[in-house]
Amino acid sequence: MRILVLGGTVFLGRAVARQALAAGHDVTCAARGTSGDPVDGAMFVTVDRDDPDGLRAVEGTFDAVVDVARRPSHVRHMVTALAGRVGHCTFVSSCSAYADAATPDQTVDTAPTLPPADPGDEDPSASAESYGRCKVTCEQLVREGFADTFVNRAGLIVGPEDPTGRFDYWVARHARGGEILAPGDPDERLQFVDVRDLADWIVRAAEEGLTGTYDGIGAPMTRREFHAGFGGTGSLTWVTQDFLTAHAVEPWSGPRSLPLWLPLPEYGGFLTRNITRSLAAGLRTRALPETAADTLAAFGDTRHITGITEEEEVELLREWHAQ
Ligand SMILES: NC(=O)c1ccc[n+]([C@@H]2O[C@H](COP(=O)([O-])OP(=O)(O)OC[C@H]3O[C@@H](n4cnc5c(N)ncnc54)[C@H](OP(=O)(O)O)[C@@H]3O)[C@@H](O)[C@H]2O)c1
Repeated sequence: MRILVLGGTVFLGRAVARQALAAGHDVTCAARGTSGDPVDGAMFVTVDRDDPDGLRAVEGTFDAVVDVARRPSHVRHMVTALAGRVGHCTFVSSCSAYADAATPDQTVDTAPTLPPADPGDEDPSASAESYGRCKVTCEQLVREGFADTFVNRAGLIVGPEDPTGRFDYWVARHARGGEILAPGDPDERLQFVDVRDLADWIVRAAEEGLTGTYDGIGAPMTRREFHAGFGGTGSLTWVTQDFLTAHAVEPWSGPRSLPLWLPLPEYGGFLTRNITRSLAAGLRTRALPETAADTLAAFGDTRHITGITEEEEVELLREWHAQ
């Protein structure tokens, strides 16, 4: 197949291109080239999608296109530029498109989405809600523009080449061992998907002509299972949400945060999606120890992009034990 990856210079786009090449396809990636390089073996076309005519440089027809865009204008221009030249279309959306982050175990069939972005208010970086609303608009544009669309609402994507540092905070932390501050309750759940598993599903979806809307995320596991998946010699000290909040520890990512930790009950549904429909439609996920080992091999145990520092962890544990 001739597959066009709009993006392909970073993380998921690169993984899709790599997977498509490995499956024997002819792959073209189109981006500015500012975020990184395309994988070896892919043809690269330099485009700037901020320009309404920016995709003019992409010539010919494609059996499938994969788009990771966040801006509705990018998708609007893409639909116009590729009309009649593309067969199957995968749009990588996000679970941030959902309106209700609190209710656990929601399914793709029944969970309501946010309203679309207001016209002229299409900056996905303005807030988490703007990002979600922009994705909703992008989804609508893709469905209107192409007959065969696979909308893949990705959840937390992890693994080698992840630029965010959220998952590899835990990879590095477990590799270091010692007393590890584990946030929340061991029975709380979370979920994620290895970037290679998501890319594999996206490529097979194009090959098989899969259509419809699905969540691109692995099955929920408990935080106890999550930490056990890293192996290592460290010992966990579970620290409650109330303590963390009282000590100005941030959720999810960023300075003084505990990556992948989210406050409850307001985020009780964000990392507990029911993926029965995705599994039935072909999603296959590898076990956490493999993702953890490969991420450790890719980044080592010293990379620290986000999360509390070693000194902050020591101090927080000291205060936890002192109370
Ligand atoms: N990471 C997560 O945990 C997570 C969770 C849920 C959903 N998602 C979704 O999953 C996808 C991740 O995609 P990704 O890993 O490939 O990362 P990304 O950061 O979304 O990649 C954006 C791609 O688009 C290109 N691009 C950006 N602006 C452009 C422009 N003006 N013109 C042309 N190309 C442009 C970038 O390349 P250049 O900068 O080189 O142009 C890059 O290749 C996204 O759709 C994201 O919303 C991610």
